[in-house]
Amino acid sequence: MKKVDNLKILITYFSQTGNTEKVAMSMKETLTGEEVDLISVKDIDPSNLSTYDLIFLGSGVYASRVHNSVVNLIKNTPELPSKFAFFCTHASLEFYQKPFDKINKVLEKKNCTVLGTFDCVGENLGIPEETQIAMLNRLPDDQRKKAEEDRKEIKGHPNAEDLENAKSFAKAILNKL
Ligand SMILES: Cc1cc2nc3c(=O)[nH]c(=O)nc-3n(C[C@H](O)[C@H](O)[C@H](O)COP(=O)(O)O)c2cc1C
Repeated sequence: MKKVDNLKILITYFSQTGNTEKVAMSMKETLTGEEVDLISVKDIDPSNLSTYDLIFLGSGVYASRVHNSVVNLIKNTPELPSKFAFFCTHASLEFYQKPFDKINKVLEKKNCTVLGTFDCVGENLGIPEETQIAMLNRLPDDQRKKAEEDRKEIKGHPNAEDLENAKSFAKAILNKL
């Protein structure tokens, strides 16, 4: 990893059911030797953001978007650092969504650079098992079969491999600085 002296990094995130928080913690674990603060977005003091060289900004995906608290943090903080990286977890097996769109627009206007985006699957722990099964049972046969297979596949994510990938991502971002 390229070493940059006195690098101050913030990892901040919204996580409703803990998946994105796991990713955030893995990234912190791997960025040893740097000054890294890991702070939930709800505990952030916006006036401190500009003191960081780089912010890793994360969220679960809810209705195809990152959580509003993450968007609002960026929208409502006048002084931002110039470098960002995004991370998110989502239950869909394909990452077809563009959850950071709104934030990207704000950052573009402020001439901030987004160095990369990490995403991985996160099991949907926000909907009780019985509700998920009831929803599946309402689907037509062919769709239900596919949805049941998908559900099996997302179980246990983010898993150890996802968390290793998140670590590699964080290191790769530092190498871009
Ligand atoms: C209310 C709600 C809405 C969700 N909407 C989506 C969605 O639009 N697309 C998707 O891929 N996953 C969706 N998910 C699944 C979450 O993105 C996924 O489980 C994620 O890992 C949750 O992250 P967290 O544990 O950090 O909150 C939704 C989950 C909840 C609870």
